[in-house]
Amino acid sequence: MMDPVIVSDDGPVRTVRMNRPEKKNALTMGMYEAMATAIERMTSDQRCLLIAGSPAAFCAGNDIGDFFMAASQGGALGQPILRFLYALARCETPLVAAVRGNAVGVGTTMLLHFDHVVSSTDARFSTPFVKLGLVPEAASSLIAPRLMGQARAFSLLVMGRQLDAEAAKAAGLVNTVVAPDEVEAEAMKAARELAALPPQAVSAARRLMRGSPDEIIARIESEAEQFKARLRSTETRAALEAFLMRKR
Ligand code: COA
Repeated sequence: MMDPVIVSDDGPVRTVRMNRPEKKNALTMGMYEAMATAIERMTSDQRCLLIAGSPAAFCAGNDIGDFFMAASQGGALGQPILRFLYALARCETPLVAAVRGNAVGVGTTMLLHFDHVVSSTDARFSTPFVKLGLVPEAASSLIAPRLMGQARAFSLLVMGRQLDAEAAKAAGLVNTVVAPDEVEAEAMKAARELAALPPQAVSAARRLMRGSPDEIIARIESEAEQFKARLRSTETRAALEAFLMRKR
C-alpha cells in the first residue's frame, strides 16, 4: 500500500503530498502526524514547503469516520489535528499549495495559513462544518473574516456555500488559477521563486504580515473547545452517521 503522505525534497523545496486518493485525501490521524512532522522538521536549507494532493482531490477534510469515532468516545479534536494546525501557525517558512479537485473542511481552512495558493480551474472550496453540526476550525473563524470580509466568510464557513476557483481568487484565498495539468508546475515555480529570496527577510516579512502566532493558536484552542462540545451533540452524531451511511 502506498504511503498516505509522501514527503520529498528537491533542493530548497520540500513537497508534502496527501496520497489517499481512494478517499479523496480525507485526513486520518496518521496523515496529520506525518504532515506535522514534515513541517516541524524543515531544516534551514529547506526554504519553502509545498503541499499538494491528487489530480481528483486536494483534500476531502477530516476523515468523517474518525470524527464519528471521536463523537462516540466523548468528543475532541484529536491531538494530531492540533499538532498539525499548530505546526502551520508556527511555521517560519513560506507555504505554497497546489490545489486540484475538491478542497473540503480543513482542506480549505489550512489554505488560510498559506502564502501562495495555485488552484486548478476546476477546484472547489467548501467548509460544511455547520451542516455537520460542527464549528469552523484551524483559526478560520479569525482569519477568514479578516481575509475576505464578514459576508463572504459567513457564507463559506457557516452557510457552507462552495467557492469555485475564480470566486476563491476574488476572496483572496487563491493567488493564481491555471488549467488542471499546469497546477503543480505553477506551484513549484512559485515555491522556487520564494526559495530563491533571502530567507531571513522572507521570514521577517511573513512574521510582520501575519502577526504573532499566539493569537492564531489561542483561536485554534477556543475553536477546539467548541468543536469538542459539538461532537458530543446528538445533531452532530446524526449528521456524521448520515454521511457514513449514505451509500449503504
Ligand atoms: N471522510 C471519510 N471518507 C470520505 C471523506 C471524508 N471526509 N470524503 C470522501 N470520503 C470517501 C467516500 O466515503 C468514498 O468512499 P467509498 O468509495 O468507500 O464509498 C470515497 O471517499 C470517494 O468519495 P465520493 O463521495 O464518492 O467522491 P465524490 O468525488 O463524489 O465527492 C467529495 C468528493 C469530497 C465532494 C465528497 O466525498 C464529500 O463531500 N466528502 C465529505 C467531505 C466532508 O464533509 N468533510 C468533512 C468536512 S468537516
